[in-house]
Amino acid sequence: MKLALTDLAERKAQGEKLVMVTAYDHPGARLADAAGVDLILVGDSAADNVLGYDSTVPVTVEELLVLVRAVVRGTERAVVIADMPFGSFQVSDEAALANAVRFVKDAGADAVKLEGAGPSLSRVQAIVGAGIPVMGHIGLTPQSATMLGGYKAQGRTAAKAQRLLADARALEAAGCFAVVLEAVPAAVAQRISKALTIPTIGIGAGPACDGQVLVWHDLLGLSDRTPARFVKRYAELGDEIKRALESFASEVRSGSFPAAEHTYSMPEDELSLFNAHVGKADMGSYGRRRQVGASAEATEEHEHAQEADA
Ligand code: KIV
Repeated sequence: MKLALTDLAERKAQGEKLVMVTAYDHPGARLADAAGVDLILVGDSAADNVLGYDSTVPVTVEELLVLVRAVVRGTERAVVIADMPFGSFQVSDEAALANAVRFVKDAGADAVKLEGAGPSLSRVQAIVGAGIPVMGHIGLTPQSATMLGGYKAQGRTAAKAQRLLADARALEAAGCFAVVLEAVPAAVAQRISKALTIPTIGIGAGPACDGQVLVWHDLLGLSDRTPARFVKRYAELGDEIKRALESFASEVRSGSFPAAEHTYSMPEDELSLFNAHVGKADMGSYGRRRQVGASAEATEEHEHAQEADA
């Protein structure tokens, strides 16, 4: 059964930690759902992790819509949150709402996430006002990394920590159902988590947050970038995949793949008939006409054989 967003604050009150992970495709969503992950974020981090951009800034609504649809199709229980990419909510409340509607109505997301407070607050109100749940995101907000002086921890002075607390409260008041705290000192995240009734989901924000999120490629060792301090790798799938591909390449080159068990055969008498037809077809224009007929027959037989083998 689908997890209810309205249960999340109760889970926080009970001290039950929430688990969130990013996913960007159907198999990933199925695995995360089967593993019992509570929230799946189709992050704009797809930009660098999946689409090969240098940062999250260039990814478009259209590109993310394709990924959100795939994740929604692969999910039964987890809540699917679509990340609103740079440019999709900064311009106006109306544009923000229109794009949020696309993620929910066209792609089937349960909720959207957007970065920042300040100008983002009226966007949150507009989207929540239309009945779409919104997750906030403060601290290190990658879409505005240039303004923040790069990809570095935020809220490390008393004044900046106070600003973060005020922003978190404002996002709760604006109607967010949860807020991501990224790269924030653990002590600050703890104070924010205590101050809010909605859950905080931390990434590089220490253990006191009400839940934790990691990016798929970081968690599974699929990224060749140097991981941020807050990343824990739970597997080294990149190495495993490379090993598998090297074995495949080497077996193809040596001729040991495919082996007999990966190969289809045909009855001996049919093979003799086939060879006889092909032999005749090689003998002249009459034979060539026959060959066309034989190929069509062979194609038809092949299709039948496939149906039978399926
Ligand atoms: O896009 C993303 O992956 C995110 C997480 C880091 C929270 O926003």
